[in-house]
Amino acid sequence: MPNSISYDFKSKGYSQVPFSRSYDFLKSAADIFLNFTDLKKEEKSKWSCNNDPLDIGIGYVRKQREYGALDNKEYFHYFPELPTYFTHPLSKAPSELKKLINVADKIFNDSIKVSQLALKEIEKGKQGAFERFFPHGSTRPGSGILRFLKYHPTTRGRHIAQGHYDKSGLTLALAESKPGLRIGFDEKDMRLVEHKSGFALTFPGIKFTKLTDGVIRPSWHEAVELDEKPYRPDCSRWAIVFFLHPEGIETASFEDHHRPLTK
Ligand SMILES: [Fe+2]
Repeated sequence: MPNSISYDFKSKGYSQVPFSRSYDFLKSAADIFLNFTDLKKEEKSKWSCNNDPLDIGIGYVRKQREYGALDNKEYFHYFPELPTYFTHPLSKAPSELKKLINVADKIFNDSIKVSQLALKEIEKGKQGAFERFFPHGSTRPGSGILRFLKYHPTTRGRHIAQGHYDKSGLTLALAESKPGLRIGFDEKDMRLVEHKSGFALTFPGIKFTKLTDGVIRPSWHEAVELDEKPYRPDCSRWAIVFFLHPEGIETASFEDHHRPLTK
């Protein structure tokens, strides 16, 4: 049986694809993001987009359990058109944000290339899924989103991130500060995955399943605390993830993303 991406998706819920940036490069990018999160709350919130037309949370986002979120975390969502959504000009941004945008753009462009190769491999020349992700060979604003994630050490219990399906069509987990990502198909069937430098882990989100009429099931995944050693005092774990959304498929509800499907 060939070890293709779609075979991997069907048999274990994820695959590995070569990624042009090393772990060290991605770690430096994560440190640039963490430097941005060190700015004062008032400064960071200037780069949140309250009038987010895409309704996905763009720019700087903070989630807190006390306000109903599942995890305490901060993240930054980048896509090339992001600066046009800011209410402040990027020229007035602190150097921490300019550096973040600069490195994010490089990782975004590489993520698009890798996603295109992965989708072509999945499709094996058939027209269909690829066109839904890249109509006319290109992305639409917001169809690809790069996320820098910082989990706070206040996160309780063994889970750093609770089990869920991604809202995306295709996800690339590019790097994380330490092992702890578990992937499978449901709560009883998850395995700790090993992340190698120079490779991205890729797995299908819930929109991929809709796109393939259920042929490819979405990957249920979570992040667990294995050693309780934080990356730094205010950050238990960081991760860099790229999400790709196909056109024409509605985003499912919060409940649908957080409830495992039955086989
Ligand atoms: Fe996820």
